[in-house]
Amino acid sequence: MTNASAVPAAALVSPPDPVHVLRGFASLRRLMGTYPIGHPMIAQKLKELDDQIRIHLRRGPLLEVDVVDGDVHMDGVSFGRDQQANAQAIRELADLGIDSIHIREGVEIDELRTVAEFLWHYKETVGGEPMEAQLARRGVRHVSLARLVRLDTRWRAQQWPSAPTGPIDPAYAESLVLAEQTFDTVASGRTLDPVTVRDLVSLLIYRVAKSNAALAQILAVKQYENLTYCHSVNVAMLSLLIGKQIGLNEATLATLVEAALLHDIGKTRIPLDVVKKPGALEKRERKMMEAHTTFGAEILVQTEGLRPLTPIVALEHHRSVKGTGYPDLGDAVPHIMSQIVSVADIYEAITGARSYQAPTLPERACLVLARLAGDKLNSALVKAFVNAITFFPLGSMVRTTRDELAIVVGINPTDPLHPMLTLVDAEGTGPGHQVDASARDAKGAYQRHIVETVLPGSAPDMTRFLAAAPAA
Ligand SMILES: [Fe+2]
Repeated sequence: MTNASAVPAAALVSPPDPVHVLRGFASLRRLMGTYPIGHPMIAQKLKELDDQIRIHLRRGPLLEVDVVDGDVHMDGVSFGRDQQANAQAIRELADLGIDSIHIREGVEIDELRTVAEFLWHYKETVGGEPMEAQLARRGVRHVSLARLVRLDTRWRAQQWPSAPTGPIDPAYAESLVLAEQTFDTVASGRTLDPVTVRDLVSLLIYRVAKSNAALAQILAVKQYENLTYCHSVNVAMLSLLIGKQIGLNEATLATLVEAALLHDIGKTRIPLDVVKKPGALEKRERKMMEAHTTFGAEILVQTEGLRPLTPIVALEHHRSVKGTGYPDLGDAVPHIMSQIVSVADIYEAITGARSYQAPTLPERACLVLARLAGDKLNSALVKAFVNAITFFPLGSMVRTTRDELAIVVGINPTDPLHPMLTLVDAEGTGPGHQVDASARDAKGAYQRHIVETVLPGSAPDMTRFLAAAPAA
């Protein structure tokens, strides 16, 4: 995505999935080897692929799909959405030595047929004449296939700030400053101050959690790359929401918030270039990164005045309910506190930006959690979390069936899919007219539904949209 603020919000709906194009080529290739060229199955698949490509080319004159380390990139930006479902198509093409497909405006359906046929025979012609020349000889002018030379696609990636920008809720801002100091203290080799940690926990529970503006800034997409201290504050707040939802008492909530706040403290011992490295890590780097769990537990065990569960959560938060994950602790099931932090951690990470990856929209993030429920995450906790934040969390920008853009400013507990909205213009400016999406007309039908969540061009000013009213 380029220069998001210059693009109307309407154009920023999630782009079409480039994997359909990879899958289309992979299955057409197989059909070419199975049926005669004029077979209706081939015609049907070709038409589907052509339609997919046309959708992409409406967004720009060139579609570039590259597979880097098994992760699909479109136009240089990672699109790693559902690796498992995509694995077969990716593998099929990669096995042929093709991990880059570029398609230009003006491509004809006949060229797609030729490319698929070429792919079927490709193994036989491997070596010798470059693919580009072979395709050109067959009259293909708008499609290029290539073995990806380790090209670095990061140069065109959007750079995200490393902390929230613009007006921030005052209590949330204060908590970020305190958390940054706490992490800096540990990073510089000094001892963690348990008094600061307790102040921070109280600040989060008694002030940040009471502010709708702060919650909106944490729940909606976060247009910054939040690697440690912001991430930690946000995970603490999301863990608190889950804890409240499942009815933990106040003392247990304080234990949970402390543990969530410090779950990633071990990252202060990992070299910053590994923590910040975009894309896949090499094996050695991955091992190093995984060690943040044991480093964290070590740091926290050595700090007097913390609660006993805090190091345990740091140790276990990357372990699944099935006992897999890291570090290897046999088949021990993580403590319920660790399980809560795992749910919050994943939601927070994917709704935040990463180098060359835009944040995932909340509704999609909830679907990711749902898919992980049972194997990796505790299903009851995922359910509690999704119920707590609802499908359209506070602060999300949505489009309605009346083609209005709006910010979610209040939840209707009896009708969470029809929240309170404030209408905005395409740039996210407002606040405009406030409407209740649960309102019905004279015949009892809803006046509007939400169609989708959209990524705002720039983060709307939640401190104006959501005055410091008590949180729901
Ligand atoms: Fe972690």
